[in-house]
Amino acid sequence: MKVLVTGGAGYIGSHTVVELINAEYSVVIADDLSNARHEVIDRVQAITGTRPLFYQINCADKRELQTVFTRNEIDAVIHFAGFKAVGESVHKPLQYYRNNLDSTMTLLEVMEEFGCKKFIFSSSATVYGPENPHPYKEEMPAIQSSSPYGWTKVMIERILTDYTTAHPDFCAVLLRYFNPIGAHESGLLGDDPNGIPNNLMPYIARVAAGQLEKLTIFGGDYPTPDGTCQRDYLHVVDLAVGHLKALEYAKSHVGVEAINLGTGNGVSVFELVQAFEKVNNIKLNYIIGPRRDGDLPAFWADATKAKALLGWEATHTIEDMCESAWGFAKNTSL
Ligand code: UFG
Repeated sequence: MKVLVTGGAGYIGSHTVVELINAEYSVVIADDLSNARHEVIDRVQAITGTRPLFYQINCADKRELQTVFTRNEIDAVIHFAGFKAVGESVHKPLQYYRNNLDSTMTLLEVMEEFGCKKFIFSSSATVYGPENPHPYKEEMPAIQSSSPYGWTKVMIERILTDYTTAHPDFCAVLLRYFNPIGAHESGLLGDDPNGIPNNLMPYIARVAAGQLEKLTIFGGDYPTPDGTCQRDYLHVVDLAVGHLKALEYAKSHVGVEAINLGTGNGVSVFELVQAFEKVNNIKLNYIIGPRRDGDLPAFWADATKAKALLGWEATHTIEDMCESAWGFAKNTSL
């Protein structure tokens, strides 16, 4: 089976490509490298012994995408490609709506042209918005978000739902990720954002590597047990395996299905910092600063649907996540 992975050179995409190749799928990557490096393809080859086919294209470019589908008989698409910085999206809403929506709609048009009917979408817990109580369950209304980035996820979920209604033989799985962190055990793949990281774990890793002076914990006065925000952190390799399970599911199903991928546990910023220090034997320099706009105090997944429908559950611990994240960061900071 041949799978097109858009954004396959990115953080979650590259880990998913490794799992796909290990499960003997034939993989084609489409990535414009706007937030990824070409070297990732070499690293995937080093890990798996197989080099995935790579096209440096933007998925909103219909002609280029048609070329990929003409040259390859694509059976399914896993769509990661998209802009993903929450804060940046507030300042550049048009870029986010244009890029994320256009690429998805172009993909759907080209898939229709070539008769491809299996679609796995990279959605986010952000679609539950600020109103739903946690743990988040898939049947809750997922029609809110607090940033243009998040709204692109809400809108794409809507587009895929409407498209599936119009094409009942199509299958769309909307995977709602919680907070993926950690890295591949080889130390060759991980989260390596351009510039100063927005997300917690890559920021911690750069402080640990001495590339950034100190971590600012955004808010110590939240209504949580230790005053810092709680999130559902999951290992990126567990998340990658979740895509494989979703693909298996899509092979024999039609219709649209939203599924949470999380551990079902809340972990605070403090707890994560302490776990990182302990497992890696490193002292992190940090201060407690003001709250960051738009952050919710706490949320985590109800992960029962993923287990029931996909037979998936997270297996890695917070310690595994912290150890592997540092294993990767050490390599890249040398
Ligand atoms: N945090 C810090 N200091 C930092 C960075 C983050 O204290 O330097 C805290 C945040 O305040 C938050 C926690 O660490 O409490 C996690 O923050 P991240 O930025 O790593 O992750 P978020 O939960 O904010 O964002 C995630 C995904 C988004 C998604 C969003 C939904 O990265 O894709 O959840 O709320 F949209």
